[in-house]
Formats: sequence, structure tokens, C-alpha cells
Amino acid sequence: MKIAVIKESAPGETRCAAIPETVKKFSALGATVAVERGTGEQAMIADADFEAAGATVGSRTEVLQGADAILCVLGPDPSSLAGAAKGALLIGALDPLGRRDSIEAFAKAGLEAMAMEWMPRISRAQSMDVLSSQSNLAGYKAVIEAADAFGRAFPMMMTAAGTISPAKVFVMGVGVAGLQAIATARRMGAQVSATDVRSATKEQILSLGAKPIFVENVAGIEGEGAGGYATEMSPEYQKAQAELVSSHIAKQDIVVTTALIPGKPAPRLISDAQLATMRVGSIIVDLAAEAGGNVEGCVSGQSVQRHGVTIIGASNLARSLPADASALYARNVFNFLSAFWDKEAGKPVLPDDDELVKGTRLTRDGKVVHERLN
Ligand code: NAI
Repeated sequence: MKIAVIKESAPGETRCAAIPETVKKFSALGATVAVERGTGEQAMIADADFEAAGATVGSRTEVLQGADAILCVLGPDPSSLAGAAKGALLIGALDPLGRRDSIEAFAKAGLEAMAMEWMPRISRAQSMDVLSSQSNLAGYKAVIEAADAFGRAFPMMMTAAGTISPAKVFVMGVGVAGLQAIATARRMGAQVSATDVRSATKEQILSLGAKPIFVENVAGIEGEGAGGYATEMSPEYQKAQAELVSSHIAKQDIVVTTALIPGKPAPRLISDAQLATMRVGSIIVDLAAEAGGNVEGCVSGQSVQRHGVTIIGASNLARSLPADASALYARNVFNFLSAFWDKEAGKPVLPDDDELVKGTRLTRDGKVVHERLN
């Protein structure tokens, strides 16, 4: 089994799909690994580090030659994979809904494309979950970005010149990113509060030493749908939530929003009128910016000012921590392939009836086969 690791070419992409540790682990399973020259250079990994771990390093053409699996972070331009053998696995966060044409092209080229971001969110697949591994880092970095833009310190400080009061941080949406944002803000000494529509998160907020801010006594407040994800809330709930948020955010210094609903635009959590009630100099980091934003006026990839409040439209913050983001992503990919490793065949065997394979397989035998794409 030859595994090719290709260098990312999308603008702004800094991560890579393998690290020396996973190269060694694949080699221990009997695979050979070929890494495209320069693959790890933005993630603090030199070509020589890959070679020391047992990989060969070469050009795109050389690494693709005879490869049985191609590992990437984002889906490459299909034309850049000319030379890959029919039947080779292509494993990455391939954005199947956003890049439908590429998926068709991978199918035509005979590649077996697997979308890592469609890994089912079940216990067995936790160690393969790229959404979690990258969201966790994004939640951390959101707080660092907020602290950087904020004109005051986070922790309380008692000094001879007087006391500095702690920053007040409010986290809206307590999934993977939100939990890490709470933990990070707490570590930095802020006073933290948080809200979510899923009532199960209340205990998690408390266990991190933050204060839960929840809508009570409104019909349909459960908010938890299939797979532990949020559902869209009733108009009655939305009104109660808006009132609660209005009174709370006026007293906050920093708000981190992370709320997403699978398959829908991000829910609007902060209106322009609510922004106007916030103190001048407050900071909002909107991690849902790419999905339309939780905050009115948020622009994905930009920092904008409204009513004296800075709104940072954070897009793909994990990329700004390329070494850690690559390490976690690479382990997710290794954990996926090694879970299906067939020792006798010397390669992964992906059974069609397995839940993880069904969830991620996009193409097979020249056709697009995933039910969400047909
Ligand atoms: P996400 O990124 O889809 O959403 C972020 C958060 O926003 C969620 O907590 C959601 O409830 C919340 N939200 C949505 N609408 C909201 C609103 N109007 N107001 C306030 N908050 C709102 O969520 P993520 O981080 O992907 O996690 C979703 C679920 O999946 C969680 O239950 C998590 O525990 C579970 N999970 C399971 C995994 C596994 O078993 N492999 C791995 C990761 C997550």
C-alpha cells in the first residue's frame, strides 16, 4: 500500500494531512508513505522531518505514481491529480455540497473519494472527527483574537495603582468550539457566562466554572435534535432568547458566537439594535461567519466596526494554528484508515455496510454514490 500526501494549494490553507508521527504509524502497518515536497512547511514540519520518519519526499507526479490512497486537507483541483491510479482512495475534507463539480470529476477519474467532515458523530468515530478537532482549536483561537483586539486585560489584577476588574466574556453556542472558548477565557481569568439551546449543555457550562444563561419556561426549549445537534427554535423561544440576550450582552466586554444548525444558515443571535446597547470597545468574534454569521453586519474573513463594537468575522481559525491543526487532522485520518486496516491485505478494507464508510464515501466505481448527493 502506497500512501501519497499532497501539498495543499488552496489560498490561505496552511495545514497538511500527515505528520511524522502518522507517517511512522502507517509504516508500522506496512504501508509506504510519499510526501509531496513542501507539504509541511507552513505547519512547522520540514521535508527532512518526514524523511526521518520513513517517508520519501518528491514532486506531485512522483508521489501520486502508483498511490493507493491520497491524503489531503481540502479537496484538490481534480486536474492536479492526473496520474493517480483508478481505484485510489482520496481522503480529505472535500466539501461535497460546496464543490459538487469536483466530486463528479473525482468519480470520473475513478477515485474513491471519502469526505472526512461527514464522519458520523458517534462515540466510535470521536477520534476521527475532523469537525471536532478543528473546532476545538477555533474556539481557543477565538478567545485569543478577542483578547488581542480588546483594550483591556482579562484577569483581575490588584496593583498599587488600583484594581483592574476582570473582563466579562459571554459564549453563545456551547458545542465543541464554545466549550473550548469557555475553558480558554476562564484560564485567562475572565468572568465567563454562556448559553445554548440544548439544555444538556447547562451542566457542561457549570463544570467549566462559567455561568449558564438560559431561556426558562418556554414551550419547546429542549433544542436537541438528531445526532445531538441543535434544532431550529420556535418563534416564541426566539423572542424569549432575544430578550434574555439583550439584557445580558449590554453588560459584556466580549462575546464569542459559535451557533450552527446543520444544513441551515447560522441562526441570528445578535441584531444591530442589540449591538447598539453594547459598550464602546466591546469585541465580538463570530465563528459562524462562514455560515452567514450569528451577528448582524458580520463579514466573513473581516473585522468590522458597528456602534463602536468590533465584530471579527472569523473564518477557519484552525488554519492559524497550522502545527496543532495538522497534527490533530492527521491523527483523525490515521485513526480512520487504521480502524479498517486488514493485516493480510496490507491496506484498509472499507465495508459498504459500515456506518462510518456509508457516512463518508462519496464516489465508487466511477459514480457519485452518497445519498446526500443523489
Ligand atoms: P455545532 O457547531 O453544530 O453548533 C455549535 C453550538 O451552537 C451547538 O452546541 C448548538 O446547540 C448551538 N446552537 C445552535 N443554535 C443555537 C441558538 N439559536 N442559540 C444558542 N446556541 C445555538 O455543534 P458541534 O460543536 O459540532 O456539536 C454538536 C453536537 O455534536 C454536540 O452535542 C456534541 O456533543 C456532539 N458531538 C459528538 C461527537 C461524537 O460523538 N463523535 C463529536 C463532536 C460533537
